[in-house]
Amino acid sequence: MAGPSFARTRRRVSEAAGLMWPLLGACLWAAVVGYKPVIIVHGLFDSSDDFKNLQRFINESHPGTNVTVIDLFDRGASLEPMWKQVEGFKAAIYPIMQNAADGVHFICYSQGGLVCRGILSILPDHNVHSFISLSAPQAGQYGDTDYLKYLFPQFVKSNLFHLCYTAIGQRVSICNYWNDPHHRDMYVNTSDYLALINSERPNPNSTEWKENFLKIQKLVLIGGPDDGVITPWQSSQFGFYDDNETVIEIQHQDLYLRDVFGLKTLAARGDLFFCTVPGVVHVWWHSNETVFHTCIEKWLV
Ligand SMILES: *[C@@H]1O[C@H](CO)[C@@H](O)[C@H](O)[C@H]1NC(C)=O
Ligand SMILES: *[C@@H]1O[C@H](CO)[C@@H](O)[C@H](O)[C@H]1NC(C)=O
Ligand SMILES: *[C@@H]1O[C@H](CO)[C@@H](O)[C@H](O)[C@H]1NC(C)=O
Ligand SMILES: *[C@@H]1O[C@H](CO)[C@@H](O)[C@H](O)[C@H]1NC(C)=O
Ligand SMILES: *[C@@H]1O[C@H](CO)[C@@H](O)[C@H](O)[C@H]1NC(C)=O
Ligand SMILES: *[C@@H]1O[C@H](CO)[C@@H](O)[C@H](O)[C@H]1NC(C)=O
Repeated sequence: MAGPSFARTRRRVSEAAGLMWPLLGACLWAAVVGYKPVIIVHGLFDSSDDFKNLQRFINESHPGTNVTVIDLFDRGASLEPMWKQVEGFKAAIYPIMQNAADGVHFICYSQGGLVCRGILSILPDHNVHSFISLSAPQAGQYGDTDYLKYLFPQFVKSNLFHLCYTAIGQRVSICNYWNDPHHRDMYVNTSDYLALINSERPNPNSTEWKENFLKIQKLVLIGGPDDGVITPWQSSQFGFYDDNETVIEIQHQDLYLRDVFGLKTLAARGDLFFCTVPGVVHVWWHSNETVFHTCIEKWLV
């Protein structure tokens, strides 16, 4: 962000205001050059109300930033199929992008991280600079969590494939990215969302989706071992179970090695970043100030 106009602003301000520089400088930066607008997409069972803290952190560190928390598919409606949510969020987000000549940033939490990846895949003229994926099950989900018990009390992780990998199951968002490592074939054949955007099931749009996705400038993958919901937690950083439930890290994942949707290209470009924070449970990622300062703040310029 220390471009030439920033340096000029700084000289003028420090002559005039001495110690007031940091605050004034930040305000001037926002007024003159402008922080890019930030778009936030929520996750399963939550809503825009849950992001008050994150909005406050952004406002305090980058005053003047225009932050929009998209208020769609709240609470129970977040169980709608992923493609439907992608279309809905895309329609709400597109005008904001068109108003932002210098581009926007995405902060996408939990299931919202997969919604955002869908949008970035199908939208050819998006202008997202930083795509910040905040504890999102990017490689899928396979775990006995409270969410699972609540949604499907009759099922546990080992038998949920009976429901999820059917046409009916695929009408529920969580089944769209349910990734049972013991039924890999069924996942690849029936997942209508994750297996497609990961190009694990061949589809005619893969090449175009990859080109679109690679228009982001930075991919920031945030997660941590005490999350408690995303399972395995490494899924937030594209790690996942093999058929022995041993976690294979991103660098050894087939979809990375074959660069099917651009991860390896991003890494080669120097635009792939990981931020791993212990001690944060799932529902706290967006409200933890340490996480904001360590993993998010620096990408919002
Ligand atoms: C941002 O911070 C300013 C100054 O503290 C405050 O007046 C304003 O209401 C805040 N805006 C939001 C959206 O929180
Ligand atoms: C913030 O962005 C939204 C969406 O582009 C726009 O409608 C609104 O006017 C902007 N607010 C400010 C204060 O610029
Ligand atoms: C998945 O699809 C392939 C190709 O259509 C087929 O050969 C295979 O039997 C299917 N597997 C399952 C478990 O449905
Ligand atoms: C590919 O894209 C076209 C139009 O963009 C769409 O109609 C089609 O359903 C997509 N294919 C898949 C497999 O999603
Ligand atoms: C799974 O574990 C068994 C026993 O530890 C081992 O023999 C086998 O090679 C493992 N499979 C994979 C895919 O790692
Ligand atoms: C915030 O994150 C830090 C780790 O960076 C952790 O030690 C702390 O317990 C967290 N606080 C909450 C409320 O999650």
